[in-house]
Amino acid sequence: MGAYNVVLIPGDGIGPEVTQAACRVIAATGVPVDWEVVEVGTKALEAHGDPLPPEAVERIRECGVALKGPVTTPVGAGFPSVNVALRKRLDLYVNLRPVRSIPGVPGSRDSVDLVIIRENTEGLYVEIEREPRAGVVEAVRRITAGASLRIARFAFMYAAHNGRRSVTAVHKANILKKSDGLFLDCARRVAAEYPTIAYRERIVDAACLDLVLDPHRHDVLLCPNLYGDIISDLAAGLVGGLGLVPAANLGDGVAVFEAVHGSAPDIAGKGVANPTALILAGAMLLAHLGEAEAGRAIEAAVIRVYRKGKVLTPDLGGTSTTEGFVEAVIAALGWA
Ligand code: NAI
Ligand code: MG
Repeated sequence: MGAYNVVLIPGDGIGPEVTQAACRVIAATGVPVDWEVVEVGTKALEAHGDPLPPEAVERIRECGVALKGPVTTPVGAGFPSVNVALRKRLDLYVNLRPVRSIPGVPGSRDSVDLVIIRENTEGLYVEIEREPRAGVVEAVRRITAGASLRIARFAFMYAAHNGRRSVTAVHKANILKKSDGLFLDCARRVAAEYPTIAYRERIVDAACLDLVLDPHRHDVLLCPNLYGDIISDLAAGLVGGLGLVPAANLGDGVAVFEAVHGSAPDIAGKGVANPTALILAGAMLLAHLGEAEAGRAIEAAVIRVYRKGKVLTPDLGGTSTTEGFVEAVIAALGWA
């Protein structure tokens, strides 16, 4: 069998460390992958004067699958978000974030099993801000029926195919009556086509409270872009933190797998980042390639390592390096 061609985007900060970790674990499953390294972010900016060169986007589009490390976006002045631009240019309209607790992870709630489905192309992330006069700034928040319907369709289709019991649309339509009103309208239209899946609506602040008080109240959360971003980090906090949660950015014919977390500049280059999120993103990537068994083997190995509880990175109160954690996962692959 020939090897799969997959683009590898090392990214910034801890990106190269955690993507390398994921590649090593994937290699240990025996699934052959030819990685084509494509730089975006700071390295591309230094080399080409553009953090997201058009050729890089084209390579990902042609290849169809990528594993991506986080990319830094400067706060305030500087270039716009490379992550957001990549999602828009490749029309990666779904951001799929399964948030599951892993037994043994310190600080994790028990048996959390949530799926966050975040609209990935519009909302406030159209990044249009204007200054009608000095001291007044307005941001555009665009919601369209097209994008809202396709993300709702994905959410219900996902729920139906994965045996999920409910979809909750997260909104603020009490205040944003037109924009979130349209988002809800689209969700309701799609919900009507799926009578066996319970459909609910929850105002975003109340949804946050629910999740903190009792994460079991929700199942699949269908979110406009910004709420999905915020709720993802909150949900990561329920299962041990940002080091644990993977994400898939999905479009038609192209998929980019990454972590929910960012480039973590505070710990970059120290070799102590928790690679779990990227390793689990790698497992999702393998499933996407049709190598579901290898993907499940990686998840099982990660679960075994945490169940033993001996090898923990500093974010979880341990002293293991990224490297040490990877070695433990690779060893645990062999226990199957
Ligand atoms: P962050 O997620 O990078 O870090 C927040 C906190 O969590 C930090 O204390 C960090 O050390 C910790 N953390 C994150 N991932 C970790 C891991 N794997 N292991 C151990 N600890 C981990 O968020 P922050 O600091 O707000 O953003 C840093 C940069 O990342 C920014 O430039 C931001 O724009 C970018 N970013 C990129 C994303 C992407 O590429 N998809 C997503 C989120 C942020
Ligand atoms: Mg985020």
